[in-house]
Amino acid sequence: MNTPNNTIGFIGAGNMASALIAGLINGGLDPKEIISSSPEDSHLLSLSTEFGIKTTKDNMEIGRNCKTVVIAVKPHIVNSVLNELSELINFEHHLIISIAAGIKINDIQKQLKGDQRIIRAMPNTPASIGKGVTAICANDNSSDEDLKTSIGIFESVGVTCLLQEKSLDLYTSLIGSGPAYIFYLVEALMESSKELNFEENEIKNLLLDMIIGSAELAKQSSDSPATLRKKVTSPGGVTERALEVFEEEKLKSIVQKAMKEATERSIELGDK
Ligand SMILES: NC(=O)c1ccc[n+]([C@@H]2O[C@H](COP(=O)([O-])OP(=O)(O)OC[C@H]3O[C@@H](n4cnc5c(N)ncnc54)[C@H](OP(=O)(O)O)[C@@H]3O)[C@@H](O)[C@H]2O)c1
Repeated sequence: MNTPNNTIGFIGAGNMASALIAGLINGGLDPKEIISSSPEDSHLLSLSTEFGIKTTKDNMEIGRNCKTVVIAVKPHIVNSVLNELSELINFEHHLIISIAAGIKINDIQKQLKGDQRIIRAMPNTPASIGKGVTAICANDNSSDEDLKTSIGIFESVGVTCLLQEKSLDLYTSLIGSGPAYIFYLVEALMESSKELNFEENEIKNLLLDMIIGSAELAKQSSDSPATLRKKVTSPGGVTERALEVFEEEKLKSIVQKAMKEATERSIELGDK
């Protein structure tokens, strides 16, 4: 793990902060190098008990003690947190990493004084079990070292990719929201499987194992998803009939329309 003074502060002690803290500690970071702040004792107590990290109710303590400050509060709280920290945060001493959905680098910059080193990251929910996919965007003030620090943090809970901030809306609709599409597909398959007379949990697990197996196969294979699909599809067979229905019902164009509208919604929410 590569951090300037090896101390990382999390403003917020909720789901995503806990996932990242767990990932960092599992990856070998000394718990003494992590501080988290939150207004309530309950979250802080569970983090200090589970991980042995330092905790505080005072956000300013994070600003005073940490060179890497991760903003992990809900988006509507970000402005007040940044206002509170703005006197303390400065270019030389702090790298700001925000995971707040929809809050642009420019919005963060406006709340802080002077030019700052700011990274915006968008993890998805599987990060909570170490299987996340996180997009990372850096502003011009951030150094290669800052980028390395951020990649190190998010690689502790999955894989990362670098993106221009302008691509984040499309990314959010594809990969940020992506787990919801898979859950929706599982729901639809479960509804189609009622006549199999499986227990709900049993069919759910069979379907999920099928999805995990297919994803692993596609990752390990040098064949494209289209080739792998063709390999499962015998002429005149079962799979072909289902795929014909998908084509007749124009499933691909439905997916494309959904992604376009979701991306537009992400742009709209960001502008608000
Ligand atoms: N969860 C995800 O999968 C996911 C994915 C991508 C991005 N994100 C982003 O990650 C951020 C955090 O999400 P989350 O799911 O972790 O939310 P969460 O579980 O609600 O955690 C938010 C934390 O912020 C604390 N908090 C509230 N006001 C604060 C303040 N003024 N100063 C310091 N801490 C404060 C809360 O404390 P109390 O509860 O004690 O008030 C809580 O510990 C959000 O901006 C979200 O958009 C989350």
